[in-house]
Amino acid sequence: MTFAKIAGIGHYVPENVVTNDDLTKVMDTSDEWIRERTGIQERRYGTKSTETTATMGAEAARKACEAAGIQPSDIDFIVFATLSPDYYFPGCGVLVQRELGITDGECGALDVRNQCSGFVYALSVADKFVASGMYKNVLVVGSEMHSMGLDFSTEGRGVTVIFGDGAGAVIVQPSDSKDSAILASAMHSDGTYAEKLAMLSPGSHGGKHLSAQGDERDWGFAPQEDFGGIFTTQNMLDNGDFYPVMEGQFVFKLAVQKFPEVVLEVLAKAGLTVDDIDMLIPHQANLRIAQFVQRTLKLRDDQVYNNIQRYGNTTAASVPIALSEAIAEGKVKRGDVVVIAAFGSGFTWAGAVFRY
Ligand code: UT7
Repeated sequence: MTFAKIAGIGHYVPENVVTNDDLTKVMDTSDEWIRERTGIQERRYGTKSTETTATMGAEAARKACEAAGIQPSDIDFIVFATLSPDYYFPGCGVLVQRELGITDGECGALDVRNQCSGFVYALSVADKFVASGMYKNVLVVGSEMHSMGLDFSTEGRGVTVIFGDGAGAVIVQPSDSKDSAILASAMHSDGTYAEKLAMLSPGSHGGKHLSAQGDERDWGFAPQEDFGGIFTTQNMLDNGDFYPVMEGQFVFKLAVQKFPEVVLEVLAKAGLTVDDIDMLIPHQANLRIAQFVQRTLKLRDDQVYNNIQRYGNTTAASVPIALSEAIAEGKVKRGDVVVIAAFGSGFTWAGAVFRY
C-alpha cells in the first residue's frame, strides 16, 4: 500500500518585526491587553509592493523543495491555501508556480479557500493525490499577507492586533511505510455562522445573507436595471467593509470545543490515543486557545508547540510555519507522531495525524 509523507518543509517570515508597542502608535491598544488576551508579543509584516502572499509562499516552497531534495521543476501539483491572495482571481497557486519558474503547463495548481483550516484541508488533498498514485511531488503552501488588508484604526483593533504575515510549505511524496506517513485526517464545516468571522466585500452577496439576519445597511448597490455595479460600491469603501470582522468571544467558545474533538477524532481513526502524541501543532489563533486545548487533552508542555508569541496568527500559514520551526529546533524528529489541527472562519475545522 502506498502512503503519503511529508518529505520536506520550509517556512518564510518577513524581516519586518512589528511589536505590540508599535501598534499603540496607530490605535488605542496596549502591549498588556494583547499579551494577556492572545499571548502575542510581536508579528511580522511583509514589505509592501515587494513581498506578496505568492512571493512569500514561493520562498517557503523553495526551502521545502531543498529539504525534500527536489527541484521546483519536479513538482507535479500545487495546492495553495490563503485568505489574503494577491488577486481576487486568479488564485495564488498559479502565481507561486510562476515564481518558481514551472510554467511548462505540466503542473496543476489548486487554490483552497478555507482560511484558518486551509493548510490542513490542503494537506489532505495532497495526501489523497499522492496515496492514490496520481502524483509524486505535491507542493502544499499556506501563506498570508494580512497586513495589506487590516483596519489600523482603533475600530479594527479587535482583529488587527492578532494577525501577522508569513508562509509555510511542504512537499508531499509517496511512502511505502507507515513509519513515515500521513495516517488520518478529518475535515468539518458548518456555514451557519459564516459571517461571524469574515471579510464580506468585495463579493456578489448583494447584501442578501446579511439582510436576512436583520442587517439594514445601505450597501449602495446600483438599481437592478443598471446591471452590474454590485461587487464593490462606494458605500462599502466608506463603511470600511473591506476589512475582516470577527465576533471574537463567539469564535473562541467554538474553537476550544472543536479543537480537542478533531484531535481525538483523527487519533481514533489512526488507532492511536493522546498518549501517542509526540507533538500537537495547533493552528496559532490565540495562545489561550492552545493552552485550553492542552489542558483539555492533558498534554505536557513539551507535547504542544506554539510560536504565536513571535508571529501572531498567520491563518493558513500558521501550522506549516510552526511545524517547520519545531522540526528545525529538533522538537519534532523523523518517526514522531504529530497532530495538526485548526479551527476558523466558515466555520471550518480540520485535523490530521502523521508520522513525520
Ligand atoms: O484564527 C481565526 C480564529 N480566530 C480565533 O480563534 C479568535 C478567537 N477569539 C479570540 O482570540 C478573542 O476573542 C480575542 C483575542 C479576539 C478578543 O479577546 P476577548 O477577551 O474576547 O475580548 P473582547 O472582544 O470581548 O473585548 C473585550 C474588550 C472590549 O472593550 P469593552 O467593550 O469591554 O470596553 C474591546 O473593545 O477589549 C476591547 N478590545 C481591545 N482593547 C485593547 C478589543 N481589542 C482590543 C485591543 N486593545 N486590541
